[in-house]
Order: sequence, then C-alpha cells, then structure tokens
Amino acid sequence: MIDFLVRITAEAGKLLLQSSRSVHNTKAGSGNWVTEADLASERYLIDSIHKTYPTHRILAEETHSDISHPEQEDHLWVIDPLDGTTNFSYGLPFFVISVAYVRRGIVQYGAVYDPSRNELFWAEKKKGAYLNDKKIHVSQESSLSCALVDVGSPYKKENFERTYPLGNKFHQAGSRTVNFGSAALECAYVASGRLSLYYEVGLKPWDVTAGALLIEEAGGKVVSEGKRFSPFHFERFLAGNPALINKALRLLSK
Ligand code: IPD
Ligand code: CA
Repeated sequence: MIDFLVRITAEAGKLLLQSSRSVHNTKAGSGNWVTEADLASERYLIDSIHKTYPTHRILAEETHSDISHPEQEDHLWVIDPLDGTTNFSYGLPFFVISVAYVRRGIVQYGAVYDPSRNELFWAEKKKGAYLNDKKIHVSQESSLSCALVDVGSPYKKENFERTYPLGNKFHQAGSRTVNFGSAALECAYVASGRLSLYYEVGLKPWDVTAGALLIEEAGGKVVSEGKRFSPFHFERFLAGNPALINKALRLLSK
C-alpha cells in the first residue's frame, strides 16, 4: 500500500506542475483560495484511491464529507491535493501534495511531495521516515537561542492572532523565525531537520496528518493542548524535537 500511496502522491505533483495557477474561487475568509490545480489534483487522487480501494473512505480538503468520526474509520485516506495554494498561485515554489492512510485513528502511512524540488518525504508507522531513499531525522538542536522556528501565518483573523504574534516570544528567546506558507511542507522540513520547530493554530487534518507521522517517525514530537496529538482533534499544533518542544511549551505558556 505504501508504494501505491507514494506513486499517486508523486503523480499528483506532476499534475500540479502542468496546471494553471489562476485562482478558481475564494472560500469563506480572505486569503483561503482554491485553484483549478487543487481540483484537478484532488479529482485524480480520489479516483485513483476509489479504483484500487473501492470501500475505503476519503477525507479531502475540497470535497464535502459526511465522515463524522474519522478516528473510528477502519480505512481512511486523508488528502490535501495542494497545500500552499497561495504560494502556488503567486509562483512561489513552496507547495506540496499530502496523502495519508489511517486505520482506526492511527496514521499508518504518509507522504508529502514537493514537485518543485522533486523531494518526496514519506513514512511508515514504526519503520522510519525518508526523503526520497534516505532516512531522515529531526534536528538535534536543544537551545531555543539557536533554533529556526517556523511560525505559521493563518488566513483566519482569530487563528492569525493566536499564532503570528507568538513569533515575538521565540524571537525574544533568541530564535530566528520563518514561514513557508505550507503546513505539510513545514512538517516535512521539521522531520528532515531543516526547521527546529513549527507552530500554528487552526490547521486542518489534511494539512498535517501525513506530516505528523513524518515528524514522529523521524524522532520528533507533535503536541497539542498539552495532550497526545490526534490529527482529528486539535487546535494548536507544535512540532519539533522533544528537547525543544518542552522549552517551547514553557515559553508559550508565559
Ligand atoms: C494552508 C497552508 C498554510 C496554513 C493554512 C492552510 P492550503 O493550506 O497550509 O500554510 O497557514 O492554515 O489552510 O489552503 O494552502 O491548502
Ligand atoms: Ca492545506
């Protein structure tokens, strides 16, 4: 199944590179855009999964779903057909496809594909995380004063106010802050040690289901509201290596 998941994620990436970057419509809330490419990629992914696994359920960003308890589904696919839509439509090369397979609330396989760099991040539960064919690990950094922290920039005002200003706290602790505008890519960068931490409020399951598995399989930790992370029930998303997570939690609670 992992081979299938990785193959369709990469194929969807090729589709994105060939698609128009024009904005199709704007969902409720300024800045939350949908392009023709989101729709084409999602159509391709859903059709492929339905053909191979006709009884499996799918939770996808652009398609209405009647799944009320995703954590109870025996076979669930979670899809973000184009994460980083704003970057994509502006011609910035920071956008990815994210696909995960979940069994009864436990993420088994996940892949995040960056077609601009031909980088495929993937992970299998209890078998590690990889970038193309190389094993990846979270950063070893243990001091906030040397950390590179990705602070999200959500489009919704209430989420923005609970995320972006906290960049100031990290800055005061001596960290550098950045934002790549694609939650799934930011998770992949935490998993591969390119980012020390990633923090954002108000993300959705399709943004981070594959990414959270990548981080955990790369030796990192994902926390939310001080509890064990579930991609289906969370508000605040904080990810990084375990030593830095504890320091970041203390800093954010001050
Ligand atoms: C968005 C990106 C962005 C995050 C937003 C997400 P989209 O997903 O991941 O970085 O700040 O909250 O909605 O709309 O590009 O698929
Ligand atoms: Ca997304």
